[in-house]
Amino acid sequence: MKVTIVGTGYVGLVTGCCLADSGHTVICVDNDIQKIEAMRRGEVPIYEPGLEDMMHRAQKLNTLSFTTDLAEGVREAQIIFLALPTPPLEDGSADLSAVLAVAGQLGEHLPDSYCLIVNKSTVPVGTAEKVRETIAAKAKTEFDVVSNPEFLREGHAVEDFMEPERVVIGTDNPKAEALMHELYTPFTNDERPIYMTDPRTAELTKYAANTFLVTKISFMNEIAQLSERMGADIDVLRQAIGADSRIGHKFLHPGIGCGGSCFPKDVRALKHMSEEHDYEFKLLTAAMDINDQQQQVLVDKLNTHFNGDIQGKTFALWGLAFKPQTDDIREAPALVIIDRLLAKGAKVIAYDPEAAGNGRAHYKDNQNITVVDDKYQALKNADALLIATEWPEFAAANLVQIKQALKQPVIFDGRNVYQPAKLAKAGFTYYSIGRQAVTPTP
Ligand SMILES: NC(=O)c1ccc[n+]([C@@H]2O[C@H](COP(=O)([O-])OP(=O)(O)OC[C@H]3O[C@@H](n4cnc5c(N)ncnc54)[C@H](O)[C@@H]3O)[C@@H](O)[C@H]2O)c1
Repeated sequence: MKVTIVGTGYVGLVTGCCLADSGHTVICVDNDIQKIEAMRRGEVPIYEPGLEDMMHRAQKLNTLSFTTDLAEGVREAQIIFLALPTPPLEDGSADLSAVLAVAGQLGEHLPDSYCLIVNKSTVPVGTAEKVRETIAAKAKTEFDVVSNPEFLREGHAVEDFMEPERVVIGTDNPKAEALMHELYTPFTNDERPIYMTDPRTAELTKYAANTFLVTKISFMNEIAQLSERMGADIDVLRQAIGADSRIGHKFLHPGIGCGGSCFPKDVRALKHMSEEHDYEFKLLTAAMDINDQQQQVLVDKLNTHFNGDIQGKTFALWGLAFKPQTDDIREAPALVIIDRLLAKGAKVIAYDPEAAGNGRAHYKDNQNITVVDDKYQALKNADALLIATEWPEFAAANLVQIKQALKQPVIFDGRNVYQPAKLAKAGFTYYSIGRQAVTPTP
């Protein structure tokens, strides 16, 4: 099929590359000219395991191309995916301006024969109807609008697209349903089902999934708070409750809260939608409040350790990305920590295996933070190390080297990367989440 993707970010580029890799002819459209030029040169603008090879393969076969011209991009399209940003507005609602702006342009530029517009952006319930009305105001040819929320996880996006746990498609039209079935057949089977439903259910399903996950994370972080105060072992507790198949092991790791471009914004958007429907969704407010509180926990511990005197001190911070295997720092807990340290007059030397570039760009005007390319270099003469992302290389780091480089052997671990007893034995004062602090054992 001839497929066009509008919006070539984390979702759009992955979708485009995976569909091209499966034999479709794909054109990716984006209004960021620098991004498009870079991709034409074969540069992948984001870090996502497996994506670069896939993109190069498709470019070589001429099944994947890039343009900034929407009219040219959709001229022959049978299916047009919208993978546009829907960031939060001040009141928490999703900003639909990019989606509706593109819908307006599409009305003028639809291909001559029937085409399907598939919305992959996370959008409020009722958006498929809005998009349809916006396009219909100017369209001269037949089209349908389908809701197809995306569930991929950054860091596993390629495998999640190629082998999704499920695909959700919202449409009231059998013709659109048949076309979507055909497109997704190679990626689905009995274990990886397609759920066909109406657009409203599809749109709400995405919010329900993300807000449930945030609630699970916040629940576990509250249990961690109790565990720490009561002297329980959070690691055993986590595994024991996870062994119950009704609970499951995933998303039970206590930490410094969740971030990223989706979870916080989707919780706020669902809360806003609930209010619009005169329903007070209390759990969402609590889940977000707990998450905000949890993002402060590491600096609170650090502040107590240094008796509130952190002005002029230097801290090493490992991990800028909101989670491992991505370069995405949008709403990353690391940024909350860094901002608070800087506000208290401290200096930060940060390291991240993939997100260094985004970190430098984010803090480009701030003299008090440096982002270095080596994790041990970040430690030199630092008063302590903070860990904000559980990159596997941190767990494998050399404790002797860490100890030698730091001014004092103190670690504040926001992701429970190490075992407290091991760190105490290695001569560290070690703070983690949901576990009691340890000091060097003689
Ligand atoms: N990132 C994820 O893990 C993820 C997962 C599931 C769903 N989603 C949802 O998918 C949507 C896209 O998310 P993302 O993370 O890929 O966003 P992104 O910011 O990485 O990418 C969006 C792209 O759209 C482009 N763009 C913006 N306005 C445009 C316009 N008018 N015309 C053409 N291009 C335009 C931007 O330049 C950018 O390249 C959001 O609604 C998000 O909530 C994201």
